[in-house]
Amino acid sequence: MLIIKTTGLLSDFIEKQEEIGLSIGFVPTMGALHAGHISLITQSKSANDLTVCSVFVNPTQFNNKDDFNKYPITIEADIDKLEAAGCDVLFLPSVDEIYPPGIEFPLYELGYLETILEGKYRPGHYQGVCKVVDRLLSLVKPTILYLGQKDYQQCMVIKKMMELRNIHAAVHISETIREKDGLAMSSRNTRLSKAEREQAVKIYETLTFMKAELKKGSLTETEQKATDFLTANGFKVDYASYANANTLELISNWNGTTPIVILIAAYLDEVRLIDNFVLN
Ligand code: PAJ
Repeated sequence: MLIIKTTGLLSDFIEKQEEIGLSIGFVPTMGALHAGHISLITQSKSANDLTVCSVFVNPTQFNNKDDFNKYPITIEADIDKLEAAGCDVLFLPSVDEIYPPGIEFPLYELGYLETILEGKYRPGHYQGVCKVVDRLLSLVKPTILYLGQKDYQQCMVIKKMMELRNIHAAVHISETIREKDGLAMSSRNTRLSKAEREQAVKIYETLTFMKAELKKGSLTETEQKATDFLTANGFKVDYASYANANTLELISNWNGTTPIVILIAAYLDEVRLIDNFVLN
């Protein structure tokens, strides 16, 4: 696997691939890689001539300084996992490479998407995600961008950003990879204590409960029960909500036909976990 650390070398490399006409699959990450990330690499490999992964803990998307400082960094293990998965290129830039002095970004007009759920509870987060993904896409120029459904709202935000910026890569969204007990794999899981790790599965159980309880009419009582259950189990809940799977508009009264996504965000101590179920 080729490891490239500067934007100059990456651009030179990409230009050569474009000349030969190779298709490029791109998997942006913040490292501390797990099987969820690797599933994206595997899918990219199966559909493209070349797979590029980036590992960059993006400071502009952390609305909480402590969360940034404590973000797990396991670069040696990441390199081993990427090698084993057959990734072709790892882009491993410094902050100065991604945000050199003088670089400017637009204000991304994300509208409603930025005012609800993650947008509401993590102010500024999605502007930071848009900045880094916009910049990475301008360098990697992929044929297909690979994203995880685990970050459902992020997928919608990135698609919106690509529309605003006229970026025409295809977007492939992959299913959430879970631990045996159902907990969605996440880099932040490594920050959980043993007891918290056992508690964490309650998020999956609550999603399962909310799925089973879904029925036409008011959903607010079930949302409250879900929140109460998590709170009673030691979580601090940001939201446990039903939303329109296409638009992410929150749904408190369901007509029985609108496609539904159930989304939860909750803290165990200072570790914030998110997960969702998309109902077909
Ligand atoms: P990160 O959390 O490292 O995730 C990188 C990609 O892996 C995202 O598309 C995410 O949705 C996906 N992913 C995470 N956990 C997954 C799981 N359990 N199953 C399947 N896919 C999973 O998301 C980010 O980084 C950043 O915001 C980024 C897009 C890289 C911008 O900085």
